[in-house]
Amino acid sequence: MYAAFTELKHAQKVKQFLAKKNVLHPDYLPLKILDHLYFPLTKRIKVPSAKVALTKLKFPLKDSSITIEKLLEKKLTKHQLKFIPRAQEIVGQIMILEIPKELLKKEKIIAEAYLKLNKNITTVVKKNKIHSGTYRLRKLKILAGKRTKETIHYENKVRIKLHLEKTYFSARSGNERLRIAQQVKKGEQVLVLFSGAAPFPLVIAKNSSAKSILGIEINPLAHQYALENVKLNKMENKIIIHQGDVRAILPKIRKKFSRIAMPLPKSGEQFLDLALKKSKRGTIIHLYDFLHENEFKLQAKKIREICKHNKKPVRILRTVKCGQFSPGVFRVCFDLKVL
Ligand SMILES: C[S@@+](CC[C@H](N)C(=O)[O-])C[C@H]1O[C@@H](n2cnc3c(N)ncnc32)[C@H](O)[C@@H]1O
Repeated sequence: MYAAFTELKHAQKVKQFLAKKNVLHPDYLPLKILDHLYFPLTKRIKVPSAKVALTKLKFPLKDSSITIEKLLEKKLTKHQLKFIPRAQEIVGQIMILEIPKELLKKEKIIAEAYLKLNKNITTVVKKNKIHSGTYRLRKLKILAGKRTKETIHYENKVRIKLHLEKTYFSARSGNERLRIAQQVKKGEQVLVLFSGAAPFPLVIAKNSSAKSILGIEINPLAHQYALENVKLNKMENKIIIHQGDVRAILPKIRKKFSRIAMPLPKSGEQFLDLALKKSKRGTIIHLYDFLHENEFKLQAKKIREICKHNKKPVRILRTVKCGQFSPGVFRVCFDLKVL
């Protein structure tokens, strides 16, 4: 069986990557040998921070090697079994499912089965409405387990407390947050616009030698969670979060930043002029968007024009795909350097 192996210190990052790529073998558990962790894979792929090789290791079978299909085989018809949803996302101890219309009447049974199967999960919810509105909130329905939508998610050495309906959060962006943190150089002053429950500020603070991180978030509840999270991670000496509209808060901040993250896909570019005012030569801006592959070039051109118009020309260092929504449509980050 193919396995990806890495030093223990990279294990979390590698696991997240493999989970995102959906290549972790469903029937076996990882194996620790000395200071390395071996992850069993369903196929060979390239894995950052890990080596991949064909091994003869005897990976331990998962607790029971019970699968969701086995748990449900007597409760669903053969036809229904084909539609069993996979976990869309796991945030803290909550599993989020997307129930196809063929299984709406069986959603509770399916959720109970997932609870039984996954010992780390205490609640199973389903997506009812996708992210929308200024606060980018979604609606979820609890199907099984503890009746809560609040949880503490662990990623990149930080704990993030949040409410799944009252704050925006995407566990899938964990690798992207780390990518940004790993670019931050010693002593940098970082600005995070649209900071939500503060995942970007926290991951940057914990995984870089930034001097300070300032976040701005309009949703008062997300802001409350952000304040709590800064304390929870003992980062009060590095992170400051302001509550309010970026348009109102940012002009009052008399400071320029070496790095500015703008995680508000779709409308982030509307704030680019404001962000540019807080930049100086060499500032790196991470601007997020949702785009079809065919639109990348045109959008890059538009961004360069906005920056030129604001007398802060930029070079686009890279265009990074950091999530996929549908065939050809990606969450994209443009890494810009102010010239
Ligand atoms: C896509 S979410 C990202 C949140 C967080 N950075 C994360 O990654 O989990 C965008 C956030 O921007 C906030 N937001 C939207 N418009 C804003 C504005 N004009 N000023 C400040 N925050 C804003 C929303 O409330 C939301 O929390």
